[in-house]
Amino acid sequence: MARITYITPDGQQVVVEASSGSLMTAAVQNQVDGIEGACGGVCSCATCHIHIDAAWMDRVGPAGDAEAAMLELEDGSTSASRLGCQVPIRPELDGLTVRVVGR
Ligand code: FES
Repeated sequence: MARITYITPDGQQVVVEASSGSLMTAAVQNQVDGIEGACGGVCSCATCHIHIDAAWMDRVGPAGDAEAAMLELEDGSTSASRLGCQVPIRPELDGLTVRVVGR
């Protein structure tokens, strides 16, 4: 189980608990504003673009090659960017805060 805090594009904090899936699926299941998950999690839409809190970057890890290529095309992409569908929920992410980039 991991407790994740999403900060939506309009500044609201939404706290979600999840034990499986990804940062995208946990957000979609809890109607977190700004995360759509249009491609179903196959790294081809970027409607799950998030920024990882700097203190958590090491634990979350870097984007893979296909993910990085998608992120290069996105507005608001930074070194903190990840696609939520490519970050599996795991216990060590308990307490993570992410910012939803939105569109
Ligand atoms: Fe489409 Fe993440 S849900 S890229």
